[in-house]
Amino acid sequence: MCGIFAYLNYNVTKDRRSILEILFNGLKRLEYRGYDSAGISIDLIIISNNNNNNHRSPLVFRQEGNIENLAKSVFQEVASIDLNLEESFSVHAGIAHTRWATHGEPAPRNSHPQSSGPENEFLVVHNGVITNYKVLKEMLVRHGFTFESETDTEVIPKLAKYVFDNTNDGEGDHSMTFSQVVFEVMRHLEGAYALIFKSKLYPNELIACKRGSPLLLGVKELTDTVSNGVSINEVKCLIKNGQPKELFFSSDPQALVEHTKNVLMIEDGEVVHLKDGGVSLLKFDHEKTKSGGFARTASVQRALSTLDMEVEQINKGSYEHYMQKEIYEQPESLTTTMRGRLIRGGSCKAKSVLLGGLKDHLKTIRRSRRIVFIGCGTSYNAALASRPFLEELSGNIFQLLTGLPVTMEIASDLLDRRGPIYREDTAVFVSQSGETADTLRALEYALENRALCVGITNTVGSAIARNTHCGVHINAGCEIGVASTKAYTSQIVVMAMLALAIGDDTISSRTRRDAIIDGLYDLPNKVREVLKLDQEMKDLAKLLIAEQSLLVFGRGYNYATALEGALKVKEVSLMHSEGILAGEMKHGPLALVDENLPIVVIATHDVCFSKQQSVIQQLHARKGRLIVICSQGDSALVCTGGSCRVVEVPQVEDCLQPVINIIPLQLLAYHLTVLRGHNVDQPRNLAKSVTTE
Ligand code: F6R
Repeated sequence: MCGIFAYLNYNVTKDRRSILEILFNGLKRLEYRGYDSAGISIDLIIISNNNNNNHRSPLVFRQEGNIENLAKSVFQEVASIDLNLEESFSVHAGIAHTRWATHGEPAPRNSHPQSSGPENEFLVVHNGVITNYKVLKEMLVRHGFTFESETDTEVIPKLAKYVFDNTNDGEGDHSMTFSQVVFEVMRHLEGAYALIFKSKLYPNELIACKRGSPLLLGVKELTDTVSNGVSINEVKCLIKNGQPKELFFSSDPQALVEHTKNVLMIEDGEVVHLKDGGVSLLKFDHEKTKSGGFARTASVQRALSTLDMEVEQINKGSYEHYMQKEIYEQPESLTTTMRGRLIRGGSCKAKSVLLGGLKDHLKTIRRSRRIVFIGCGTSYNAALASRPFLEELSGNIFQLLTGLPVTMEIASDLLDRRGPIYREDTAVFVSQSGETADTLRALEYALENRALCVGITNTVGSAIARNTHCGVHINAGCEIGVASTKAYTSQIVVMAMLALAIGDDTISSRTRRDAIIDGLYDLPNKVREVLKLDQEMKDLAKLLIAEQSLLVFGRGYNYATALEGALKVKEVSLMHSEGILAGEMKHGPLALVDENLPIVVIATHDVCFSKQQSVIQQLHARKGRLIVICSQGDSALVCTGGSCRVVEVPQVEDCLQPVINIIPLQLLAYHLTVLRGHNVDQPRNLAKSVTTE
């Protein structure tokens, strides 16, 4: 979705060039959230004859296309309109936006910042969707406002101007503070948003607020280290003592970590006001507001947190693309996912799994009526890959004859159907970003229905992490490539550990559990081994480069691998690709099979192996053009009855095999994309975290 960023320097002299560079660099870090168009706003100093009356007027630059192009033209334009790049500011507030279009095509008029009018009294950058914008627009048009964009966002700055011009506090006082204006605006907005406001009427101030979309404040204390646990009030005092500061707002921590690790996760309904070097964290005060007039606010005390992230994690290093780097990081990301969570046991102690975030809830989960996995896209696929194992292990709970039912829900479909979720259910929400709108809405729905809600996310402090009753972080590290790779494999490993934690440790399951725990320990090594297929998959990509379509057949543990492999190929290489449940082959897909259409069949050694052998035979009988992913040493077994290309992968425990099997398909998708000349990290029309329904 969109990315928003802002930078305010206080008592730190920065020239215009550095300010622009900080804003553009912030946008580059957020580019994966949207890359249709971008925009920024910085200040122009209007010199008056009387030097004391110099004032600031915001300049706005907006452009379709990528951030680099915007940066180039801004630097040129600034020079051509005679703004000195070396001019310095001891205080300056700048805002920036990178867009994934939802309302209105990518075009300068639809890019952000959106403005209150030609004078730019209020400027806004927005991530989210305002659902009641039509009503607000009609009201504003009736009051004489004219609109130039098709965006939902444009109502926000215009509403701010309307509020500023028309509201008083009920006692005849017209002088609203910037935060009062913003609170008034928020009272009228419906939908999801993270907003940053800049105003000509409140120079050198910035306001940020949110509901539903993510937003962080970064505090860079230049003379004293602000450490974890310092409350926002204390930070304010430090600034009031005249200490220089650099303050940032960002949709994501990735854009902050190179400046500071001291952050405040802004919560829904809160407003952060940066003024005179101070930071005020405010929320709406319903009680005081009852007395009439404009919105009354109360201040909030909350400690800053420290980002657990290093700058190296957000750079490509020696890799060409983030997707490639993230595929190669999997041995390490899986190790981090499992760190401290597997317990080998002593001589007479069983091996076990410890998931700290769940330990107080395991009893309730075991007693639930069923487990419902809910997610979208790759996260849904990861849950699907884990279902058979969870069904198997939960069947052992208390030696019951029947296992715990495990059902699957795509978040948007659950919402469309208002599908049944009960108080006795455990609803597991799987989301890399922890911010996906469909998944979040489904979480709200499950909370309303009083289910126990468990979150599995890669983003500490994300909405799903905060709003579920308990959960597990997958700790895969930042994933910047839009196509999810390392998060997928870490999600599967977390869900395998979840199954081990939920399942009973009876004698009958002990051998199986021990083998899986040993398999988990060894998984990073097996992933290292499978990554050696890189060249082989590149060669295969060269053969497939001009194809229109690719089918991927899987079943059992690897039905999810077929869906996920096909999703990877289609989303980055833009080649049509479909994942098919091999058991369904005869019920339709077989009609597509001929000597031209390439088909990947996943046939590693597990309980479904002989059925997959039979599928291969039937495809051979129709002269199918086959690529078979099989276990090392099985080539001869899978390639009887016709010719096929074989990709041998290391064999691991069946429930962990999806982690291994997806990697050749990730590599294939990556190489196909590069060879076909498409953007690997920013696939057409997609964005990393989809914060609108
Ligand atoms: C595809 C991909 C998407 C996401 C989906 C959900 O590579 O990444 O399908 O999995 O948009 O996102 P999260 O996991 O952040 O909820």
